[in-house]
Amino acid sequence: MKTETNSAVTETLLYHEQTKHHFHRYARSAGFLDWANQPNPFRSYEGVTPVRLPLLQEDPASEHLALYERSRNAFQDFTRETIGAFLELSLGLSAWKSIPGNTWALRINPSSGNLHPTEAYLILPALPGVTAGIFHYNSYLHALEPRAEVPETLWRQIKEHLHTDGFFVALTSIFWREAWKYGERAFRYSQHDVGHALAALSFSANLLGWKVTWLNAVSDEEIGRLLGFDQTQWPEFESEHPELLCFVHRSGEQGIPRDLSREIVSEFSGLRFQGRPNRLSEDHVDWEIISRVAEATAKPKHEEAALTVPVRHGLPESTRPFYTPPTPSKIPAAQIIRQRRSAVAFDGISSITKDQFCAMLDKTLPRDASAPFDLGLTVPCVHLLLFVHRVTGLEPGLYFLLRAERDLPALQQKCHRHFLWRPVDETLLLYLLQAGDFQSTAASVSCGQSIAGESAFSLGMIARFREEVETAPYRYRQLFWETGMIGQILYLEAEAAGLRATGIGCFFDDPVHELMGLSDDAFQSLYHFTVGGPRDDARLATLAAYHHLEAPVRSEAKHRDPRV
Ligand SMILES: Cc1cc2nc3c(=O)[nH]c(=O)nc-3n(C[C@H](O)[C@H](O)[C@H](O)COP(=O)(O)O)c2cc1C
Repeated sequence: MKTETNSAVTETLLYHEQTKHHFHRYARSAGFLDWANQPNPFRSYEGVTPVRLPLLQEDPASEHLALYERSRNAFQDFTRETIGAFLELSLGLSAWKSIPGNTWALRINPSSGNLHPTEAYLILPALPGVTAGIFHYNSYLHALEPRAEVPETLWRQIKEHLHTDGFFVALTSIFWREAWKYGERAFRYSQHDVGHALAALSFSANLLGWKVTWLNAVSDEEIGRLLGFDQTQWPEFESEHPELLCFVHRSGEQGIPRDLSREIVSEFSGLRFQGRPNRLSEDHVDWEIISRVAEATAKPKHEEAALTVPVRHGLPESTRPFYTPPTPSKIPAAQIIRQRRSAVAFDGISSITKDQFCAMLDKTLPRDASAPFDLGLTVPCVHLLLFVHRVTGLEPGLYFLLRAERDLPALQQKCHRHFLWRPVDETLLLYLLQAGDFQSTAASVSCGQSIAGESAFSLGMIARFREEVETAPYRYRQLFWETGMIGQILYLEAEAAGLRATGIGCFFDDPVHELMGLSDDAFQSLYHFTVGGPRDDARLATLAAYHHLEAPVRSEAKHRDPRV
């Protein structure tokens, strides 16, 4: 067992090293886009009758902070309508974009290259208009595709185990969708996307008075059994990999068990699953290292772990009120969710105030009774290395936001001696490392992308790395989830502040580490981000998210996003 774990650690660390981008060499990929085999971004199951979900007639009226604070949202019953709202505001379509000859869909949750490797499944009790069962969410149709019925006796068992009402949501990944473009680095991007989707689910649940709790003890193999993956005929290279299982329940309910009993899981193995997954591409490239890292980082069953909220100055972080800027956002929460987009270019002019900046960063800190981090991922392991370009009240330079105080001594010891570590805020653990103009450095380490230099600020997400992976290789995936969740918050905070953000998966790994003075892999940069005043592309036309349900677009048509 010990040796197996050691080889999984070695495999995981090797994957990470091998998929770094270097100034002189990118991680391995096909090097061109094989348009004929671009994967269909929509999974559907053939041979089943989808249960259509209603679209919201009216959005929840909640304001910006209702995204985070649980006390601001009244509980709504679990119904077909509210389940529809939950999915519409988390994983549904947000719009279609079009230029002559090309039309492609955008979603509420972002995805590297708009390729969408993340799929979602619901396990529902009987509701009016829905039979209890296991369903795939088809975002194109905004419908649930039934895969198996769940007998009443099994739901009774589940309810006795969890002591409350609710339903399960599971996320899975189809690595091929990302690998088609990004080759070996695709596993990382798929994990970022899981983090984005997870935060999106937590926010939309919160607006309905619901809370998403991650069941951290359940193994990947168990999730596969719940979803009937062992009974599914996947097209070659297009199989789905279980990522995580959550229980969605009423906000405010404490002590939800974060495990499932072996008896419950084995009952699912006895169910009869229906439906054949559609084929996504005719031809594939086998990026074998991705299968190996997926296996090495598969999560086994283990004891459920409680989340320990970090303590600072003797007070749990969670008890601090949110940092509120003098002029709170007037954009309603659901509107912020719907209008989220990635900026393709920034104006190089727009600035924000230090208060706005700190209010955004503050939202990325976990709090006990606030979405999204109260779903219980872990103690924070990811910190922010900030390239401040245009923040009034802060001189331009390199800054650092610690999301858990515990890592400060190690970081100070490992980073450049000349870094100042000068505190610049009374509330946040925010430090000036070095004053100066870092616009061209930020762009250069972000694969030369000007979006990292022409924004108000950009950042690298610096994770406590080797120790986490050595403790348990599956932590590798969870570190990326944490970065994706932070990214989702920054996307929404940018919209709330009248700005726009973009996730940056393409960055030169070791040059970022060298910039900090890091010479080993105790800490690693896992994801970059940028926030500023956007420059729009006037050539693009926008269509409503679900216009095609009235005048259907063929779902098997290629939706080709020229930006991928
Ligand atoms: C994990 C991740 C990595 C990304 N990396 C980049 C990047 O390096 N450069 C870029 O311009 N956009 C990047 N994006 C933005 C995506 O291209 C964008 O999310 C996608 O095209 C969908 O568009 P939307 O965000 O407007 O819905 C990234 C997004 C995610 C989620």
